[in-house]
Amino acid sequence: MNKPAKVIFGGTCSNSSKIAEELTRALDANLGRLQVMRFPDEETYVRVLDDVEGKHVIYVQSTAPPQDTCLVELFITLDTLRRLKAKRVDVIVPYLAYARQDKEFNKGEAISARTVAKILDAVGVDRLYTLDVHLYRRLGPFSLYGVKAYNLSAGRALASYVKSNLGIEAPATIIPDRGHTPLANMIRDIVGDDFVFLRKKRKTGWEYPKIYEKTADLEGKDVVIFDDILGTGGTVLRATQFALSKGARKVVVAVTHALFLNNVRGRLRDAGVSQVVTTDSILQPESVIPIAPIIAEYLKSRI
Ligand code: R5P
Repeated sequence: MNKPAKVIFGGTCSNSSKIAEELTRALDANLGRLQVMRFPDEETYVRVLDDVEGKHVIYVQSTAPPQDTCLVELFITLDTLRRLKAKRVDVIVPYLAYARQDKEFNKGEAISARTVAKILDAVGVDRLYTLDVHLYRRLGPFSLYGVKAYNLSAGRALASYVKSNLGIEAPATIIPDRGHTPLANMIRDIVGDDFVFLRKKRKTGWEYPKIYEKTADLEGKDVVIFDDILGTGGTVLRATQFALSKGARKVVVAVTHALFLNNVRGRLRDAGVSQVVTTDSILQPESVIPIAPIIAEYLKSRI
């Protein structure tokens, strides 16, 4: 049976439309056209300008800040594509907002990641693809509260970039979160085996975490801090202070999704971070790794 024609649409958030264009070329698909506007009261208007009936539609929308606006655009667009009778609707959400609120940490709290998943399910998403998503630490297929999902990673691309472009030959790698051992396993053959996993605790997302590690052999070493998200920068700042207090010579940071909240760049510089590198899942001046090739590589043989 012939596969349905593929049409790729990009949303207006962050780099989504550029990623959609790049995927179109890599996956031999057509680029779909959307009209997206904000009404005077800030509500979102979406119009699908191409015929999608019977087609395999892939919609790209990163949900970086303003994430609520981006999510609403995503929900409205997906619902419309379904209503216009697309045969299959897949969504690529490189940075998935609310993935950190994936359980009731304190009684009565919203499990917002679950709410996002329930809406995706309700609008009829067939498959969600995302990247280094916070609530699933491994590569591969997973269920986002019932929505079929797949987690890709920029870990290897970031590690290769650091090694080839930042003049760091045999770094010590700090992983600020012990839960990230799968990431370490993914990049071990690129950065070497010198890993330090930190134990950190934070009371709320508003506070910087505390690092509980006491020892690490970092004297005179170049250190790379790897993480999935740079938000307020608190985690990276604390990890940098730790590395420098143990005698590290230089600290660079590699993260998949860099939000740079609260103007944290200056504080990172003042704390001694030489450079931050990230992907274009959230477009920043520090975005050195395009994610379209990572996504295309995975999808090429599968769709
Ligand atoms: C947390 O477990 C994550 O892996 C990141 O370390 C965290 O989200 C970074 O946030 P922030 O930059 O606000 O410390």
